Amino acid sequence: MARRRVIIDTDPGVDDAVAILLALASDELEVVGITTVAGNVGVDATTLNARRLLELAGRPDVPVARGASRPLNGSPQLDVSVHGADGLGDLLWDEPRVREHHLDAVDLLHEAITEAPTSIVAIGPLTNLARLLERYPGDDEAPEQVVVMGGASFEGNVTPAAEFNVWYDPEAAAVVAGASWPMVFMPLDLTHQALMDDEDLARLRALDTPVGRRVADMLEPYAAFHDEWYGTRDVIMHDATAVYELIDPSAITKQGVGLSVETSGTYSRGATWFDRRRVNETSSTRVGLSLDNELFVTVILERLARFA
Ligand code: RIB
Ligand code: CA
Repeated sequence: MARRRVIIDTDPGVDDAVAILLALASDELEVVGITTVAGNVGVDATTLNARRLLELAGRPDVPVARGASRPLNGSPQLDVSVHGADGLGDLLWDEPRVREHHLDAVDLLHEAITEAPTSIVAIGPLTNLARLLERYPGDDEAPEQVVVMGGASFEGNVTPAAEFNVWYDPEAAAVVAGASWPMVFMPLDLTHQALMDDEDLARLRALDTPVGRRVADMLEPYAAFHDEWYGTRDVIMHDATAVYELIDPSAITKQGVGLSVETSGTYSRGATWFDRRRVNETSSTRVGLSLDNELFVTVILERLARFA
């Protein structure tokens, strides 16, 4: 079966790290690039982290292109460090030999989606994708599919209304929501079904490989954050759900929806309104509804075990 070309736009981020490694380990996918954006940490750190992860995966062939250092509007500040100060759980890393690509994120995205059918996996704030549509309006027809981890149908995580990736850049999310791309959104109500527990982290360690150990180690502060916030160490694998969708499009149940993004409002800025009031078979936008977590985690563990 032909491998699906994907380019991953990301703000690593420890759950981004699992998503990126999952994509790299999956024969169904060909990762043709990684583009970075400010989000969980600044773009210097997200770009360094992408290089670190490709070094860890033994994939210096995958280009890394730096993207937006700030959202389209505003300068969001979050006083919670979910992913560690460096964005990858504050472990010790050697300086990666993987270098940055000479193109910026927008041009690498444009190059990838116009040279051959390519899907975009967007697992950070959507600033780069909004800038892509601004710099290359014709790309409104270009990507094969766009899978976004973002939004929330019922309850946010940064505020009661807003999920982080949308909260960080609501204007960019509104631009992307208005694109004519075939899109699937994985909102928090879906991703909160996608959990790895301490036994799963122990299984990663038991692989006794650099990837297994590193991923388990970098998820430790994330598990502590979950314990503090949600009263359980089960870690939510938000971003891996977007990659999982492209690995097996039958795995996550979905529904056609309308989508509006709130960019104003004292309490509602960054809210996402997924309109699911009726069956909507004609919309080019779908939302993820449910997944089988046991299958999801089995795929992650089996694929991460493929790294030597
Ligand atoms: O709300 C979850 C999203 O915000 C994930 O992409 C996570 O990496 C953080 O960026
Ligand atoms: Ca992310």
